[in-house]
Amino acid sequence: MSVLSVIGGQWGDEGKGKVVDLLAKKAEVVARYQGGANAGHTVIAEGKEFILHLIPTGILHAHVHCIIGSGVVVDPVALVEEIKLLRDGGIHVGSNLVIGKRTHMIMPYHKVLDTHMEELLGVNRIGTTGRGIGPAYSDKAARLGIRVCDLFDEKVLGERVRVTLSIKKRLLAGISMSDEERRSLEEAHIIKVCSQVREILAPHVRNTDVEILEAITNDKRVVLEGAQGILLDLDMGTYPYVTSSNTGVGGALSGLGMPLRKVGAIVAVMKAYCTRVGQGPFPSELHGAMGERLRSGGGEYGATTGRPRRCGWFDAVAARHAVQVTGADALIVTKIDVLDNLETIRICVGYEMDGKRITIFPAEASILEQCTPVFEESEGWLVPTVGTRRLEDLPSQAREYLKQLERLTGTPIWMVSTGPGRDDTIEIQDPFSAVEMN
Ligand code: IMP
Repeated sequence: MSVLSVIGGQWGDEGKGKVVDLLAKKAEVVARYQGGANAGHTVIAEGKEFILHLIPTGILHAHVHCIIGSGVVVDPVALVEEIKLLRDGGIHVGSNLVIGKRTHMIMPYHKVLDTHMEELLGVNRIGTTGRGIGPAYSDKAARLGIRVCDLFDEKVLGERVRVTLSIKKRLLAGISMSDEERRSLEEAHIIKVCSQVREILAPHVRNTDVEILEAITNDKRVVLEGAQGILLDLDMGTYPYVTSSNTGVGGALSGLGMPLRKVGAIVAVMKAYCTRVGQGPFPSELHGAMGERLRSGGGEYGATTGRPRRCGWFDAVAARHAVQVTGADALIVTKIDVLDNLETIRICVGYEMDGKRITIFPAEASILEQCTPVFEESEGWLVPTVGTRRLEDLPSQAREYLKQLERLTGTPIWMVSTGPGRDDTIEIQDPFSAVEMN
């Protein structure tokens, strides 16, 4: 069983891009199963930076077959642009990229709805990426979505666009819109957008459920590439401040149409500290100079929107919840080097509310907002760890910090990332060997 599920263990931006890129080197298939162009997976390959929003990170390896499964919501215009950018950067994108026929598409009106919904929510806004994710998944659930296969049947496409637009227009009546926004509600405009992308996408469109099963049956090494993180999961995250998909392995099973028993191992990627973009509770958040130190040290600015990320200490209560609800077999800890210059380092080991200790991650965002963090403090190591490749070469305090994360989460660490480059990595346990031993 060679299927490895890579999940974000926090609020996204954990460094999954680099991790999946490393694992892709040893894999034959990389499949994205949820989310959309709200993701921004950054990889530094041969000195060049690539930010992938929709295309699986495996595309940077010529031997890897990349699948965009039907659980993803694809913005076809963004996808076409991403294909072009990669090709311009010398990356081959041909039959190595396939997109599921059942995949729902983000249409221009989904982005308009996303923006106006946020405006209407006012102080209660989610702080979305504005990429139309929520409205596209809402349409999918409401059975108003337009799927990739619809692109190839003009009659069906025209009918689906007409039906959904008639409803959207009524919903948006009374909302003041720009000319551009109004255009995105015109049937002719949507049909034109679809016809512009149809030819370019056509060679990539397949039944990806069949492909994934074939790969598994033939014992190919498969990486399931999660986007966002489990604390942004629609069910297990800090609802309503979440994204609109299931970011864990459940999302992978339904989003790719693959058999449950074939997943060999689940790894949760976690930064050595925490970040969050957008609104929502974040108990271990640091305000002021220390937060700024993490932000500038870690380059914590959104890869998709450029927004500064909120920064805080590692939250072990949230991490335990993440491990529990993802069934993670192991952690991959990233960005430990960002803590190099800190005299003292804290870990949030519990919460307090009204003088009572809380050790279980609350389901209610309103309760989480009121929790104050309980910290444990340890000495920093104050020596550079960037580029370290062996665990024994890390300073003793850094090794102790990692052991503490293992103890608090009850989960072993298989890899540690010590910098942005592919080689800046400590491999404690090769995830594929672990999977194949299963
Ligand atoms: P949406 O996914 O654009 O609807 O945004 C919902 C929430 O998820 C917002 O708080 C976003 O900032 C957050 N979010 C969405 N995608 C990502 C990501 O890739 N990394 C980090 N946060 C994300």
